Amino acid sequence: MSELKFPTDFLWGTATSAYQIEGAWATDGKGPSIWDVFCQIPGKVNEGDTGNIACDHYHRMKEDIALMADMGLKAYRFSISWSRVLPTGQGEVNEAGIQFYSDLIDECIKHDIEPWITLYHWDLPLAIQFEYNGWKGPEIVQLFNDYAELCFERFGDRVKNWITINESWVIAMLGHGQGLFAPAITSNDDPYTVGHHILLAHAEAVQSYRKKYQPSQGGQIGIANNCDWREPLTDTEADRAAAERALEFFLGWFADPVYMGDYPQCMKDRLGDRLPTFSPEEKKKLKGSSDFFGLNHYTTMYAAENYGDMTNQNVYGNGGIAEDQHVTLSVDPSWEKTSMGWAIVPWGCRKLLQWIADRYDNPPIYITENGCAFDDVVTDGKVHDPQRVDFMRGYLSECQKAIESGVNFKGYFAWSFMDNFEWALGYSKRFGIHYVDFETLERIPKDSAKFYKSLISKQKWVKASAT
Ligand code: GAL
Repeated sequence: MSELKFPTDFLWGTATSAYQIEGAWATDGKGPSIWDVFCQIPGKVNEGDTGNIACDHYHRMKEDIALMADMGLKAYRFSISWSRVLPTGQGEVNEAGIQFYSDLIDECIKHDIEPWITLYHWDLPLAIQFEYNGWKGPEIVQLFNDYAELCFERFGDRVKNWITINESWVIAMLGHGQGLFAPAITSNDDPYTVGHHILLAHAEAVQSYRKKYQPSQGGQIGIANNCDWREPLTDTEADRAAAERALEFFLGWFADPVYMGDYPQCMKDRLGDRLPTFSPEEKKKLKGSSDFFGLNHYTTMYAAENYGDMTNQNVYGNGGIAEDQHVTLSVDPSWEKTSMGWAIVPWGCRKLLQWIADRYDNPPIYITENGCAFDDVVTDGKVHDPQRVDFMRGYLSECQKAIESGVNFKGYFAWSFMDNFEWALGYSKRFGIHYVDFETLERIPKDSAKFYKSLISKQKWVKASAT
């Protein structure tokens, strides 16, 4: 494989999220989140694991940033735990929580690492779930906006990159459709209500940022959504339409409103009044509400037209409720898989980048997450993870091809900086480029961290000028 070469201002980063790494779940005044209690419900998380300690990043933050600096990383994407800064989700501020993030930001800057902050990575303050029905209640729009403004106010002098929400689809579908994630709600309709409120909350916070903070702070703001690629199983018109529909139900659901001001037509046609509608004013607020396109991408599946009754079919992998789409998904048995069972298909990443460029008028795209889990082991103090190195090389080489074809692709964040709490799968899945020993909490750079470091060092780096 030829050497990877990226534009000089291409941004190289890694990503994490608060609940997955911080621990200190009730330390220094932090309030509980829906994940703190979800983990207490027997049977919800593998082996009864919790994020109570996780990687103990709350107490090891400086050590972690030093490891990033050693790799030559240019950016670090992390999330703020809403209930650490606002223990009941609103009202009184927990200054100790603010101090933690302020120190983390300063530590990044000290090492020339750009902080990229995600405001919401799934750990909703428990009080908001109880008092307002969480994302199901319309009050969430204002509550999220107020929390976002607190962050812009306190951190915006130093933070120039904001992501409002991580993976709207997961919040809606896994949290409120399939009930696999907190707050464990199972419903066929709630995902669409929740998705609607997520979009409105995003738009509100972006409007506040643009009006009150962006002019003086000069940063950028966007949203990070997840999508797998859907390849038509055959070249028939029906299968091509099915793949397109699957992408619209997965990514178009959240990206069309942000770029075009409304939901995809196929969702409106199929869902009727189960899909909420935007007022003309809301459409205006939404359209253009992202300065960049944040994409989390992990895998690819084939999509085919489904002619039958889907009610009892396994909905795994469907971006949206299966029976609403009439799409059958499958994988090629010859595709290699990660320990998540996700197929490794680098060309799917290139096709998805191209699809986004074509549909949304070539916006600046950042891959805000891409990575893989394998059953890594320590041998003589080292962790050899050749499959992860191959994965990164494969995906990045397809990303490079996308840039060569004119896609405005600006940066890549490897998921994840270190092994961490993989939600309902607990600590059984290792996504890190650093190994974490969950007994001693020692971090060990895997071969993939060394590969990434060497790749970054070979790129000529020129910091992009401020937006
Ligand atoms: C994403 C999520 C991350 C991480 C990753 C691997 O959906 O944003 O928190 O868990 O998947 O499954």
